[in-house]
Amino acid sequence: MDKLIVHGGATLKGAVNISGSKNASLPILAATLLTEDDCIIRRVPDVSDTNYMVQILNSLGAEVERSSGTVRIKCGEVMEVAPYDLVRRMRASICVMGPILARQGRVVVSLPGGCVIGDRPVDLHLMGLKALGAKVEMEGGDITLTAPDGLKGAAMDLRGTSGPTVLGTDNVMMAATLAEGVTTIESAAAEPEVVDLANFLNSMGAKITGAGTRRITIEGVEKLHGVEHTVIPDRIEAGTFMAAAALAGEDVVLNRLCRDHMIEVTAAIEESGHTVEFNEAGDRCVVRRGEILRGVELETAPYPKYPTDMQAQMTALLATTPGISVIKDAIFPQRFMHCAELKRMGADIKVKDGTAVVRGVAQLSAAPVMASDLRASAALVLAGLTAKGATEISRLYHIDRGYEHIDEKLLMLGAHVERLQA
Ligand code: EPZ
Repeated sequence: MDKLIVHGGATLKGAVNISGSKNASLPILAATLLTEDDCIIRRVPDVSDTNYMVQILNSLGAEVERSSGTVRIKCGEVMEVAPYDLVRRMRASICVMGPILARQGRVVVSLPGGCVIGDRPVDLHLMGLKALGAKVEMEGGDITLTAPDGLKGAAMDLRGTSGPTVLGTDNVMMAATLAEGVTTIESAAAEPEVVDLANFLNSMGAKITGAGTRRITIEGVEKLHGVEHTVIPDRIEAGTFMAAAALAGEDVVLNRLCRDHMIEVTAAIEESGHTVEFNEAGDRCVVRRGEILRGVELETAPYPKYPTDMQAQMTALLATTPGISVIKDAIFPQRFMHCAELKRMGADIKVKDGTAVVRGVAQLSAAPVMASDLRASAALVLAGLTAKGATEISRLYHIDRGYEHIDEKLLMLGAHVERLQA
């Protein structure tokens, strides 16, 4: 398993290009199952999660060609059973469920496992698909959905105990595009990635309105056709590099991002004392480390509020920001594995009931640390940038799931990092 050595003390300078969004790419790749025509999707990041999705589509019978960030997919014939050994490795593969059900009238997908950030239930996905007329059976860890007479549009509310569900909204929205009649989803997720999927589906001939709000309406159509689409920028990668620039940078430029998708993240970085200046178009910004820094209070919540996927990275930044910060993760209360590792580096963090109280220290010191999930591993890389000594991060496969060539991008900015094949 690869390791990353991050030598602290380098100053980041220059510019970094933000990749296409992993979390927009995954449901959009799955949505190609809804048509037998060719689809071309550009700016798909080269990360292991999108590679898994391509493998799953291949195993379902799709023809897939990938060159650099462009993926060409043709789902002529579609199998109904998603392969357990691939599905179990990536929770997001659950989003093939809606498209296969709508296309074939039957789908078998293994129940996704939980992960370190928390129990990852799919009850809302199933509730929504049942509302469209699917019959649900669970056996041997597999979910089998059938709709022999096709799906029928319905009204539903997909709100869970922690609010909307992103992939649940995606699954139901995709299935509803080919249902007979009109579907309305109340308490829909409004993330930019859901909007990008809705735009992709509408270019295929779907009739979706309200994406980006809490109420999405889908008027079913007979058929969908092939399309070309470019995926939106990855707002979480962009936020991660914003935090890196605030921590260890000198006028770092971020290219190819989208200001409107990062309002809350930008506000948090600025509230802690740094400045972020966007250009007119909002697709480029300069991050300047502040002189007077201060702790902040943050609570994660569904978009457009502060994203849980940027909680760990902000915790790493605040670990050496003077003052006290309070970070509550209301979406994944267990998502604090990175704190134990940051404390090994000298951070002063107390975690209780889904809230971390961070008391900023002058400097962290390097220690061998272990990545536990995608965003926690990014937090450890950030912490290593200004820690005293060389931080060794093991289980690097976590970070490779969602960050495209992160070590190369950091090297381009002047960071002193090296990847070791362990
Ligand atoms: C998406 O996961 C993202 N993944 C996650 O990013 C992100 O953390 C999450 O949304 C929240 O924003 C992708 O888009 C591929 P949810 P998803 O359904 O859709 C509960 C990353 O780092 N819930 O919005 O699986 C759930 O337990 C990943 O890139 C139910 O109760 O998350 C959670 O508390 C990690 N029942 C809340 O809803 C359900 O049926 C939000 O989960 C589904 C979810």
